[in-house]
Amino acid sequence: MCGIVGYVGPKLATPILIDGLKRLEYRGYDSAGVAIMNGKGVETRKAAGKIARLEKAIFDDPPHGTLGIGHTRWATHGPPTTTNAHPHASHNGTIAVVHNGIIENATTLKRSLEARGYVFKSDTDTEVLAHLIEAAYAGNLEAAVIEALHQVDGTYGMAVISSAEPDKIVAARKGSPLLVGLGDGEYYLASDASAVLSYTREVVYLDDDEVAVLTRDGYKILDLDASLQDKPVSRIDWDLAQIERGGYQHFMLKEIFEQPTTITDTMRGRLLVDEGFSKLGGINILADDLKAVDNIVITACGTSWHSALIGKMMIEELCRIPVAVEYASEFRYRNPIVRPNSLCIVISQSGETADTLAAMREAKRRGARTMGLVNVVGSTIARESDGGIYLHAGPEIGVASTKAFTSQVVALVLFTLKMARLRDMSVEKGREIAQALAALPAQVQSILDRAQEIENIAEEFKRAQNFLYLGRGYNFPAALEGALKLKEISYIHAEGYPAAEMKHGPIALIDEMMPVVFIAPHDAVFDKITSNIQEVKARKGKIIAITTREEEALEGLIDYEFRVPETIDLLTPVLASVPLQLLAYYIAVKRGCNVDQPRNLAKSVTVE
Ligand code: AGP
Repeated sequence: MCGIVGYVGPKLATPILIDGLKRLEYRGYDSAGVAIMNGKGVETRKAAGKIARLEKAIFDDPPHGTLGIGHTRWATHGPPTTTNAHPHASHNGTIAVVHNGIIENATTLKRSLEARGYVFKSDTDTEVLAHLIEAAYAGNLEAAVIEALHQVDGTYGMAVISSAEPDKIVAARKGSPLLVGLGDGEYYLASDASAVLSYTREVVYLDDDEVAVLTRDGYKILDLDASLQDKPVSRIDWDLAQIERGGYQHFMLKEIFEQPTTITDTMRGRLLVDEGFSKLGGINILADDLKAVDNIVITACGTSWHSALIGKMMIEELCRIPVAVEYASEFRYRNPIVRPNSLCIVISQSGETADTLAAMREAKRRGARTMGLVNVVGSTIARESDGGIYLHAGPEIGVASTKAFTSQVVALVLFTLKMARLRDMSVEKGREIAQALAALPAQVQSILDRAQEIENIAEEFKRAQNFLYLGRGYNFPAALEGALKLKEISYIHAEGYPAAEMKHGPIALIDEMMPVVFIAPHDAVFDKITSNIQEVKARKGKIIAITTREEEALEGLIDYEFRVPETIDLLTPVLASVPLQLLAYYIAVKRGCNVDQPRNLAKSVTVE
């Protein structure tokens, strides 16, 4: 997720753009830049790092002009360097482009443009847009943009300026938000209202496949056939804080509700449903080398360690490769067994966790090939691993990880699918997994649509002092994750356990004051978990069950039930974790806790 701003009017553009980018910094903050029409042409200034770095870089000699565009980046293609920062210039330097989204056919378009003599400077997909628009330009900027966009597959919120038409900004939207702010003789462009709220509350929201043309004299909205669109003007009533959180009370809730989109983004361009296969270009491992892998170590911390446990189960079940899951903090100080054909998978949302980074370096020293599952592009773990799978889940601001966890599991399924189909998995089995993945976003949405049911359950347990979370198989790690979510934001003590293991000790804790969450999908071990539920019931435990169908066997045993859609076993943890995220969230809110920044915690633990 990146931030885009634009301005055309009587005032100097640079200060307005910098102010707008600062308002959008929560959308992405690894590099930034502006392009200003300075009377002689397009002047572009960029810097890696936060907006403050850009501001400092241009402070003594700011670009001078009253029209420009700006961008704050959340890298998806190419590390966050100055070269990769937006705006990107076209071949002849007359055009500058900023972009938020993913151009899925960027590689194909880049090869075609290079064959026509266009020279690329960056690793980004966005630079393709700049050259495409230059190649299509024939005297009208919006016509060139429309022609270029007809060649593009993927998503964009984009803006472009050209020294050939120095009084015009053209913008377009498909899948990434964009709005036009209406001032008095001046017009703004922004990814969301937070960047224009200081100047105007009157906005026009672009819809997908719409193009905006802004000049000093006014604006117009076109479709991709260049037909004029009649768009309503909306008034923004939100305050700034509400806008940054997309109208949600907390970033954590926003990120929980983003999961249908983020799971889609994790799979975007990677899931080949008909072939029952996955395409993972970033892992940088040849098929033969992947087939030669005969043991895997997965190392991580916290929530990422929980997704590692799920990964272990699916890789062992479907690829028949032994997998060891190691706490990174333990791995780095043990004398771990790493063999020449070991693959070390390193899972980290931030890509900066000190223990995980150290564990990866130790695995590399011992000869393992490393593969990162990371959310933050260009982070240290991403850069130092031999290859990897970016989650594309967008910035996760809430300290408690939610969307990163579900995207980690999805990325692990994509990897497992590839590995298994390189071995002896049939195309039919591959298709079954791929189809289940494709159905996941809508299934998560159906759960989110019933969030009120979870809030009602949270109301009953907001004063609990302890919780037990129980699951079997793939859902044992989901139980651990549910417990971690609750304890880290509500400060209620909570433990996750394999359901059968509860008999070997924790059952002593069960009484009418102990809520017990069971993850009880109708899978191969449902009868077993029913017995565990009966054992808890016999001791008056309060039972909350996450089920997948109406279960006669549970009649009279459970106190609260929340049903999630059925899916294949290895994806049940994704569906089960969403109500548990919401349960933790609502209980924490009802306890007055600081949900986004819980006490004692940091979003990225960069110390030992
Ligand atoms: C999860 O909710 C916690 N914030 C924490 O356990 C986190 O998962 C852990 O610190 C690992 O972070 P990473 O994924 O960025 O490496």
